[in-house]
Amino acid sequence: MDDKEFYLDAIRDVVPEHKEEQIQDVFYSFLELEHLYDSAIELVKTQLNIFDNEFSMRFQRNPIHNIESRIKTPQSIVGKLQRKGMPVTPESARNNLTDIAGVRVICCYIDDIYAIADLLTDHSAFQLRKIKDYIKNPKPNGYRSFHMILDVPVYMSNGKEIAPVEIQIRTIAMDFWASLDHQLKYKKSFVDLNGEISGELKQCADVIAQTDNKMLEIRKRIEAQGVTVSRD
Ligand code: GTP
Ligand code: MG
Repeated sequence: MDDKEFYLDAIRDVVPEHKEEQIQDVFYSFLELEHLYDSAIELVKTQLNIFDNEFSMRFQRNPIHNIESRIKTPQSIVGKLQRKGMPVTPESARNNLTDIAGVRVICCYIDDIYAIADLLTDHSAFQLRKIKDYIKNPKPNGYRSFHMILDVPVYMSNGKEIAPVEIQIRTIAMDFWASLDHQLKYKKSFVDLNGEISGELKQCADVIAQTDNKMLEIRKRIEAQGVTVSRD
């Protein structure tokens, strides 16, 4: 089933009393919402690239390794609203979900993460809504990343709209761990006798964290000799 049919069916389910015309109107509002979040992602990515280029000009080094972004699929938006027992409407998605727009910033070193987070926080156009520092306070399973939600103003032809964007900032090493952890979580039926697998995954996360700290220390030692460390 394509995205449109999925939305339409979900809307018909929730508001069976709606006429087909009204259902199409609700669907159109969802499309507008997608456009708004897409635009907010583009604005954040552009600003991140500006920071990265400026940093590279001043310090001959790029703090950002790469940027990924995604917009939550219609299935996932509807699914999350239903799971939370919230109305399946564009207004409800806007008021209750802050992870429709997601940007992931993969940095080279741990100090780059905080440099990027500070620049975004200090940016006068973006309003900081929430921070979760899973680097200072890792999750019990070992997950590390710096999360923030920013309210991003998007200027449309008929005025300003605000869209929240969830930003995850992490090192290449943290991303490596999170990506494998995510893959493994999809294999829901695996047996984890006495939590052995979870324990070993946690150990891997800790080794990775030590490596991240060590790499930063090495970079600083080299820089202290007056040498700049640039990308390959
Ligand atoms: P959600 O409602 O699931 O979005 O969680 P939340 O609002 O409590 O936010 P949280 O900051 O805990 O997690 C948001 C996102 O971070 C998730 O959607 C994942 O992308 C990522 N994340 C959080 N915990 C983990 C984890 O243990 N492993 C992996 N691989 N990713 C995680
Ligand atoms: Mg989420």
